Amino acid sequence: MRVFSGIQPSGNLHLGNYLGAIVNFVSLQNKAECIYCVVDLHSITVWQEPSHLYKNIHEITAGFVASGLDPKKNIIFNQSKVVEHSELSWILNCTARLGWLNRMTQFKEKAGKNKENMSIGLYTYPILMAADILAYKATHVPVGEDQKQHIELSRDIAQKFNTDYKDRINLLTKNSEFFVLPKPLINGPVPRVMSLRDGKKKMSSSDLSDMSRINIMDDEDQIFNKIRKSKTDSGIIPSDISELDNRPELRNLISIYSGISKQSHQNILNEFSGEQFSKLKKYLTDILIAEICPIGHEMKKLISDPSYIDSILLDGAEKARAISKPILAETKKIIGLA
Ligand code: TYM
Repeated sequence: MRVFSGIQPSGNLHLGNYLGAIVNFVSLQNKAECIYCVVDLHSITVWQEPSHLYKNIHEITAGFVASGLDPKKNIIFNQSKVVEHSELSWILNCTARLGWLNRMTQFKEKAGKNKENMSIGLYTYPILMAADILAYKATHVPVGEDQKQHIELSRDIAQKFNTDYKDRINLLTKNSEFFVLPKPLINGPVPRVMSLRDGKKKMSSSDLSDMSRINIMDDEDQIFNKIRKSKTDSGIIPSDISELDNRPELRNLISIYSGISKQSHQNILNEFSGEQFSKLKKYLTDILIAEICPIGHEMKKLISDPSYIDSILLDGAEKARAISKPILAETKKIIGLA
């Protein structure tokens, strides 16, 4: 079992990243060889202020460590330091089909009506993601639900490469398959955390409203205010879980509560049914502050020592290259480039 996953340094690390992915990263570190990447090349598919980018790379790295990832046990690095990702990405561009990319819903959502004006990188982004995973022959990829379609695309690309070059793979490796088909692991505490302002939209660092998300480095007052002002409806809290179906904002608050407290949705409803939102919000604020603020404090401490963060990234990049370099070399031989 080899685990690979990545997070973009494109703004604030938020509760969605934490409950959808990072909590799972932490639990996997004791079960498998884990590679966690700050995907800086993905982040520049939309404009990143150059003077902020390196700081953001440091912040994500600090977020990994502050959440409990041991830099000695896991390979932690930033994508642009390992050239194999970009080189394999070009090769996989020639394997992936245009029709497959045209089906990617994330591109459609991000580009909206403005797609002619988007970077080519935003469109081919899932191919770089496939390269990230396949360059390590990772078997498992822990992600939030929004990344499922991209992992499926990575599987399709791996499968097509294995089929296209079947004879060469057989001849050179004596195996019938070269790339491993990666499996998505979508079992974080909350696979899809929604915006605090709109229960139908996912929580995201690109949302213009900071009130829509809890950032991991938010302080107690910010968390208190964001939960207090989070959107709700006019009903009271029901006792039956099925009543959450048409109440997306309430469902989201209960899911976050459940993700942090590890209690089931039903148990939480049993505790709060018949109550006003204010009580649920007060308790939720308390458990969020207890979980998130210590991580935020630790992140700030780590960021204040940039040379330590740089040493983690450098060491991680060396270890990552030791795995991906021979895989890329073999890929080139199979294709006939070497
Ligand atoms: P990114 O940077 O958008 O998000 C990082 C991780 O956080 C999860 N996530 C969420 N989970 C639940 N609810 C949310 N609201 C929420 N928002 C984000 C994401 O699912 C993800 O797991 N393309 C990826 C990064 C990437 C990658 C990879 C991941 C690049 N290469 C290779 C896995 C393997 C992305 O943009 O994630």
